[in-house]
Amino acid sequence: GRVAVLLGGPGSEREVSLQSGQGVLDALRSRGVDAHAVDGVPALAKDIVAGRFDRVFNILHGGDGENGVVQGLCDAFAIPYTGSRVLGSALTMDKIRTKQVWMSLDLPTPRYRRLQPGDDVHAAAREIGLPVIIKPSKEGSSVGISRVFEDADLDAAVELAARYPGELLMEQMVEGDELTVAVIEDVEGPRALPSIRIVPKGAWYDYEAKYVSDDTQYLCPGLDGDDEMRIGALAVDAFVSAGCSGWGRVDVMRDRRTGALLLLEVNTAPGMTSHSLVPKAAAKIGIDYPALCWRVLEATIP
Ligand code: DAL
Ligand code: MG
Repeated sequence: GRVAVLLGGPGSEREVSLQSGQGVLDALRSRGVDAHAVDGVPALAKDIVAGRFDRVFNILHGGDGENGVVQGLCDAFAIPYTGSRVLGSALTMDKIRTKQVWMSLDLPTPRYRRLQPGDDVHAAAREIGLPVIIKPSKEGSSVGISRVFEDADLDAAVELAARYPGELLMEQMVEGDELTVAVIEDVEGPRALPSIRIVPKGAWYDYEAKYVSDDTQYLCPGLDGDDEMRIGALAVDAFVSAGCSGWGRVDVMRDRRTGALLLLEVNTAPGMTSHSLVPKAAAKIGIDYPALCWRVLEATIP
């Protein structure tokens, strides 16, 4: 049948999604799939109503690509699609409520405060303890995020994050290693790929380090022995408990002092650009980029 590769969209991650989508499109075509690019959810809705596609590869990062909207659209027309269903998508799009679910299950995640208009951000930072990270609760690719080391910089960080839709989150800044784990579901259930430890050349893994710089170092597997087993199991727990399925990527910090692993978030339509992480983890176990796209697509078969 015909496959729609849903990409682009109006959000802050549009450019990233266009790159991811082009990669997926080329890969699926190289495998003989009749794949076509569709830019944005409204365009896909028209195509679905017109009966033009019978499967969707969703690589629209953020917004209606990852928040349950396109998942609900496809469900309404019984069109199979890649990745999580409505619940897992909607939940993990919201970093605050994802943390609440994890905390309720004793899964480890950094301390945080939800910031609402009028809140005393300085008091919140004292409670959590500087340094903190201020982020919009519903963006990706580090858009709108600041690391704050001094009280005097809090207001500017809040102002930046507030330019994006949704609530704001203040989170304890974990000093240590930044790790990520891809999870892919097959007939036996969700499975972790080897973790990746990200060593950015600059201070942290920001938008530039993610997509532009070639100096970021990626170590895979990111941890040794038991620690690697632990992070894989934690990622699968985090993914399943947040209602996710199909495929995704779980971001994790490891505290340098205590060695503790702390969950940051789940990405339900993770990046698939030439700089992206899931393809690197798959390559480590012999799954090349086209084979990875094929597996993700295959997991949509009901
Ligand atoms: N939000 C970006 C695309 C990622 O998680 O890879
Ligand atoms: Mg993200």
